[in-house]
Amino acid sequence: MLCDIVRPRVRYLYESRHGSHTGAMLMKPFFVIGTRPEIIKTAPVIKEFEENRGIPCYVLHTGQHYSNTMSRTFFADMDLREPDENLHIGSGTHSEQTAKALIGIEKSLMRERPNVVLVQGDTNAVLSAALAAVKLHIPVAHIEAGLRSYDQRMPEEHNRRLTDHASKYLFAPTKRAAQILRQENVWGKIYVTGNTVIDALEMRLPAALNTPLPAVASSLDNFALLTLHRAENVDDPKILRGLIDGLNRLGDHIIFPAHPRTIARLNEFGLMDHLKSANAIHLIEPVGYLTFLHLMVACRYVLTDSGGIQEEVTAPSINKRVFVLRTSTERPEAIESGHAVVVGVNPDVFPELVIKGRDEGLDAERPCPYGDGTASKKIVDILLVEN
Ligand code: UD1
Ligand code: UDP
Repeated sequence: MLCDIVRPRVRYLYESRHGSHTGAMLMKPFFVIGTRPEIIKTAPVIKEFEENRGIPCYVLHTGQHYSNTMSRTFFADMDLREPDENLHIGSGTHSEQTAKALIGIEKSLMRERPNVVLVQGDTNAVLSAALAAVKLHIPVAHIEAGLRSYDQRMPEEHNRRLTDHASKYLFAPTKRAAQILRQENVWGKIYVTGNTVIDALEMRLPAALNTPLPAVASSLDNFALLTLHRAENVDDPKILRGLIDGLNRLGDHIIFPAHPRTIARLNEFGLMDHLKSANAIHLIEPVGYLTFLHLMVACRYVLTDSGGIQEEVTAPSINKRVFVLRTSTERPEAIESGHAVVVGVNPDVFPELVIKGRDEGLDAERPCPYGDGTASKKIVDILLVEN
């Protein structure tokens, strides 16, 4: 048995060689998740700790996402065990969500006394966890640090900036993200690791290809895949209507697994009938991760305002063109790799850009800008050496 005073590097080497259970007693990682993409993108890191290194983690779900189709499904699809705790904070204003999660996370941290808190991305759950942890002097590790859209309308832009400046370990997915962090003089240590979304995708793609496509997709020879949920788009009735009108002009079948926020806004703004009268847009419930991956493989191209989907299309096993229905992106690497085109939200402009670019070929040999699927391993290696 290794004693507690042994230096971290030596301790890690000892454990990696002997596969002992020592790490479980020395390292106490505490993960906070709240939404669909956080379950997907943290799953490979939790699994790396628990299944490959024998180090148990504590996983707290804030309950920001709670519908089965937005939360529970993803644990099964990621082959991930259930969280240890769920705060059930549910929906609400930004302050309500952040404050409820902050109080719940603080209680849990005081009880569990972890030595590192891991968060991923830019949701309200991430900001709450980072705040709760720094106030208790527990180091924060931010996975997917350094992304910037420079669009101050986005709640995510505030969350990621504040979290980056509260973090001790900043896991930047790309060199560009690391450079942004250096320019902002963050005080934590910066590491370039790739994005864990590629790990998740590579891990689950074989299962995804054995998962049936939704009936509507099987009945179509050719379709585009659409997701929409950004507050700047769907909370504005004019923009939302314009998006529906512009999408109709494409003349393609479009499969649209709609986020509950978008369903709520379509109903609230009286736009549901308008959408349904568009024969080409096939509205379906949000689908699980395996089904979504299969849809990405099967579709002709992707239309989205999602962050994670801009990354996923750049994986060599997907390699699809994505049209970003936004005026900015915090993922310029996907533009540089040739996959993403930011087409905006103006219905008089974006359809032409999609029509022009939808069949342009992609360089299959080009390396993925978000890494080679080993980000989780790198993150765990670094944290074991540092703690
Ligand atoms: C949140 C994140 C966003 C992330 C997205 C992933 C913030 C500020 N936003 O946005 O960065 O891209 O998750 O999908 O943290 N709803 C349900 N069931 C659910 C969850 C939500 O019906 O399980 C509905 C409710 O009407 C709710 C609305 O969706 O008011 C919005 O949910 P919320 O969690 O506030 O924000 P998202 O748009 O999901
Ligand atoms: N996704 C999914 N089912 C869907 C839509 C998206 O599994 O119906 C996955 C998608 O593969 C990606 C993630 O959800 O990994 C993206 O989540 P979202 O767009 O909600 O959030 P963002 O990435 O914009 O924060």
